[in-house]
Amino acid sequence: MKVSVKVPASTANIGPGFDCLGMALPIYNTVTIEETVLPGTGIEINMMSETETIDEMKFDNIPKDENNIVYRAVELLYNSIGQEPSELKINIQSQIPIARGLGSSSSVIVGGLLAANQLLGNPADEAALLAIATEVEGHPDNVAPAILGGFVLSNQEDDGTISYCKLKWPEEWNITVCIPDFELATEIARSVLPKEVPMQDAVFNAKHLAMLVQAVNTKDEKLMKNALQDRLHQQYREKLIPGMKEIVDSFKHEDGVLGCVLSGAGPSLLVISHKYDIDKITTTVREIWEKQNIKVDIRTMKVEEQGAKIEQ
Ligand code: HSE
Repeated sequence: MKVSVKVPASTANIGPGFDCLGMALPIYNTVTIEETVLPGTGIEINMMSETETIDEMKFDNIPKDENNIVYRAVELLYNSIGQEPSELKINIQSQIPIARGLGSSSSVIVGGLLAANQLLGNPADEAALLAIATEVEGHPDNVAPAILGGFVLSNQEDDGTISYCKLKWPEEWNITVCIPDFELATEIARSVLPKEVPMQDAVFNAKHLAMLVQAVNTKDEKLMKNALQDRLHQQYREKLIPGMKEIVDSFKHEDGVLGCVLSGAGPSLLVISHKYDIDKITTTVREIWEKQNIKVDIRTMKVEEQGAKIEQ
């Protein structure tokens, strides 16, 4: 038996929502899991790129054994019902660029989990799937929109359960995703963050996240422009992303640009705009990154409201 699951990419943090805000985007990975009947064949993991932006060589660095994140998620699911995974063939068709802050790892974790759950007759409910995916990923902000679709505020509670609420992103607000041609592993981007932050920075983010929720709910662009600020992660990660500060600053006083923020752990940037010339965004970002010899793939998109979907 074989099951395929199509999972959207996601962006996380979105300004002040470090580790709790995330949004599904219309770029997809498809994970197929097949229970092979031949005993002793072990696991087989294959990754295929569907786009030229993904260098197949990058797949060589991804573990193809029990350390693979898809396998780890699947194993946790089997273990949760007192079983061990049998012989499995896992195929990943990838459109989501790797290590760019677009939720590529979350998408494959979620795809693997949902496919395995279907193979097992759906023993895990949404809450259990969210909890297992978060355990493997480390935080819920990408896995929640990957499973649920849309714009999601999520939190891992002390008992491990995931609480979440969906917010309605104003359709007219454009999201321009700027994907540079270099990778930044989340591990590295998290290693530059301090263990503790000044109280005023924590308070700054709490206030701005509250503003952001209100701004989204009321489509208040002025409030949103003020809300899209962060003091918990971007200032520390800026040094890993040449040109980032210049790009962010260049949009600060542009009417129609609500903000420019790091996508997840980076290095991609998100420009959120309304009634603003998208070509102008493209030119600004391209020119600044060109000075750093960085090529960039720029795509303007809407939120993907549909979460992970079983295809067969
Ligand atoms: N919230 C996470 C971070 C997203 O910023 O590190 C990346 O997985």
